[in-house]
Amino acid sequence: MTQDELKQQVAQAALEYIKGVSIIGVGTGSTVYHFIEGLKAFKNDIEGAVSSSETSTTHLQRIGIPVLDLNSVGTLEVYVDGADEINPHKQLIKGGGAALTREKIIAGASKKFICIADESKSVDVLGKFPLPVEVIPMARSFVARELVKLGGQPIWRENCITDNGCQILDVHNLSILNPSELERTINNIPGVVTVGIFSLRPADVVLVSKGQDIISF
Ligand code: A5P
Repeated sequence: MTQDELKQQVAQAALEYIKGVSIIGVGTGSTVYHFIEGLKAFKNDIEGAVSSSETSTTHLQRIGIPVLDLNSVGTLEVYVDGADEINPHKQLIKGGGAALTREKIIAGASKKFICIADESKSVDVLGKFPLPVEVIPMARSFVARELVKLGGQPIWRENCITDNGCQILDVHNLSILNPSELERTINNIPGVVTVGIFSLRPADVVLVSKGQDIISF
């Protein structure tokens, strides 16, 4: 199976979790792309979706699913999203697609966070994937210096403006042995909007596509 077929397979498996749910939280990325395609079959059962990015919003609207404002829907039953890295504790690195802030908001506002990925995303220790940090533009260099003090090598993702009008630093060479502690520490640097560690609010269910199988934990 190609990597894209693995993504499609796991996205299909996630559709089981949205049966009977009227408003769904929807993430961003190439795995979620397939999940949104799968939502076509549920179009008449779904009241709408809360979207984590302009890209997913456009896709949802194109297939005829209303996109709702999180402020008007309250707590969500289910949120489905991908990840860049997943450890055995369901802690994640996210933000490769620059949508980490809205993703973290929706994860926090949802009862059940279903994370979907192909097997290449599974790791023992987070940090090989450069850690995305969304920053207020004027704080970029200051935050970068603070991240260096923490042992990382931040690289500015040039030509990337997030949906919130902010910028991204990708932090290389971190071995994240205590994800919750590092999430809190980076969150506390002035100018940081969101750090792409999802540990304080990890996934509830992880579905990983491996060969013909879906591994769930
Ligand atoms: C978007 O900002 C990310 O958090 C994505 O969820 C993550 O990058 C996974 O994307 P893919 O499904 O494209 O690998």
